[in-house]
Amino acid sequence: MKNNPQPRVGEFGCGNGIKTSILHASRGYASLPAMAQRTAPKNARKPSARTSQKSSHLENSQSPVLAKNAKNGAPTVSGKQFLSDKVGHFTESVIREMTRQAMLHGAVNLAQGFPDFPAPAEIKQAAQQAVAADLNQYAITWGAKSLRNAIARQTGVWQGITVDPEKEITVCCGSTEAMISTLLAVCNTGDEVVIFEPFYENYGPDSVLSGAKPKFVKLRPPTTTGGEWTFDEKELRRAFDNRTKAIIVNTPNNPTGKVLTRAELELIRDLCVEFDVLAITDEIYEHILYEGTEHVSMVSLDGMRERTVTINGMSKTYSVTGWRVGWAVAPETITNAIRKVHDFLTVGAPAPLQEAGATALSLPASYYEKLAEGYRVRRDHLMPALSAAGFKCFRPRGAYYVMTDISAFGFEDDVSFAKYLVQEIGVASVPGSSFYRDPRDGARQVRFAFCKKPETLDEAARRLARLAR
Ligand SMILES: Cc1ncc(COP(=O)(O)O)c(C=O)c1O
Repeated sequence: MKNNPQPRVGEFGCGNGIKTSILHASRGYASLPAMAQRTAPKNARKPSARTSQKSSHLENSQSPVLAKNAKNGAPTVSGKQFLSDKVGHFTESVIREMTRQAMLHGAVNLAQGFPDFPAPAEIKQAAQQAVAADLNQYAITWGAKSLRNAIARQTGVWQGITVDPEKEITVCCGSTEAMISTLLAVCNTGDEVVIFEPFYENYGPDSVLSGAKPKFVKLRPPTTTGGEWTFDEKELRRAFDNRTKAIIVNTPNNPTGKVLTRAELELIRDLCVEFDVLAITDEIYEHILYEGTEHVSMVSLDGMRERTVTINGMSKTYSVTGWRVGWAVAPETITNAIRKVHDFLTVGAPAPLQEAGATALSLPASYYEKLAEGYRVRRDHLMPALSAAGFKCFRPRGAYYVMTDISAFGFEDDVSFAKYLVQEIGVASVPGSSFYRDPRDGARQVRFAFCKKPETLDEAARRLARLAR
């Protein structure tokens, strides 16, 4: 029999043993006995024996998403292992699992970041027309010309950058595919990729799949009401060395709502130039900004044009997360490599929806103003309800999530709290630990998404009020 696969990514959690998703129905979450006896969660200093039972990932001190030393199921009779070592190093998405849990328990889904309101009529019409006009076959592998032209035009408008739609743009199946295609295109095994944490869940597994070793740099929560998430300049510098291939920069940020300032981006830029490192930026919340906060695109900074891959997509800006259209904008040589990976991964993104993408990118400036204002109203709808229920909220400057501190509730950790919330209160959130390498760092946090209709937020508020009783 083969030995367990050895860890390929030394930076991950410190436990051993089999990693299972904390939320898998078969191991832990739905199979846990109902938690109905917990009638007084508030100030519950001593969790019951049931809730103090550690979930598997916490026992192992492993991130819910990233795992180390994982076994990949039983070997065959001959001792051959059918599954790849790589898949043993991460689980399915906790965020997506929370949506399934919300459905299972009839909970209001404030977990996964998708709107529950309609997409703009113009772009739905454009998609319908494209199907009716029989644009039903493969588009050009790296993207329909109309969409690439629109992306190039808007990159000029929004970032002030001239890009060649023929040579510098790859349209993918969502920004998710753009990110993994980029990492696969640029990383060799053992290359290091710097990632701020808390991080958008996908970046961990993306690094594993591309053979890269993630190096995490902490974003620290605000210490004052209305304060900012910050990182330590020295810690960031220590993460860079001659093995560093890239840094992933997500601004506006999921899950924190942080919008990196020009000064912070310039600091990152200086390190990228000094250590000859690529910046891979995820700017999918670019248009969702509050209180006049400015979005600065890394590619627009001096010295970054030739070392930045800018990733974006339709999902969040046009409320079409299910369409799966995103893109990567990068210098020609990097684009060529991304296009090769993308071609053999997916061939192309949905053709009629790319046509609708060209229409979407032609919407007037007022569309984006209304989008941001709509999300500000939703944020200001949910946050008071969370505060009244006992959460400490970290006010987002952008994107459509609010990270909260759950210390006041006295639960043992974020996972037991999120379970209680979805099963007993009827609201789905995302346990904070799924955004960290070490789950202990997120054990006092849960994330809520507010990209929902007012009536959805009202219903969530009504249910959350039970926590305060
Ligand atoms: C930071 C970030 N990047 C990427 C995505 C996924 O984007 P797409 O739907 O374009 O794949 C999400 C979705 O929540 C996200 O929050």
